Amino acid sequence: TFSDAEKAAIVSILGKVSGNVNALGAEALERMFLGFPHTKTYFNHLNLSHGSTDLQTHGGKVLGALVEAGKHLDNLEESLSKLSDLHAYNLRVDPGNFKLLSHCILVTLASHLPADFDASTHAAFDKFIAVVSHHLTSKYR
Ligand code: HEM
Repeated sequence: TFSDAEKAAIVSILGKVSGNVNALGAEALERMFLGFPHTKTYFNHLNLSHGSTDLQTHGGKVLGALVEAGKHLDNLEESLSKLSDLHAYNLRVDPGNFKLLSHCILVTLASHLPADFDASTHAAFDKFIAVVSHHLTSKYR
């Protein structure tokens, strides 16, 4: 659960992300695929080359899901339930990969919003992505 200060920091960042989810999401995915190439194995059916429509579209879905989650900070487990089913039962993404994507999202946002990423905002947003990831990987057994 989040403190009021953490909630304010998370909502503030997401407010600045929401108008640009495709480009920011594509960059986060590209950082993941370049830095951790094994993560590409889940996406054989997509075009992962720089600037592709697939990267933009999928990146927009991922960051769009975070923006949506930010509207349910007191109720994340329930609001992420369908996405959790998808990643666990259908896609079977190795949970370790969530840490890699989380890192790449954090780096992307920090580099685009440097004035916003003081240490406490960094910590709050890191916690937010970790909690989301926890819920997306909680149904594996
Ligand atoms: C699909 C969000 C982590 C692999 C999706 C979708 C969303 C999403 C919103 C689209 C669902 C739909 O079409 O109904 C997230 C979020 C994550 C996360 C918020 C973590 C913060 C990961 C990780 C991987 C992964 C770590 C693998 C490295 C996939 C794949 C699809 C998918 C393969 C299906 C893509 C397609 O065929 O269009 N994810 N995801 N996800 N995700 Fe994730």
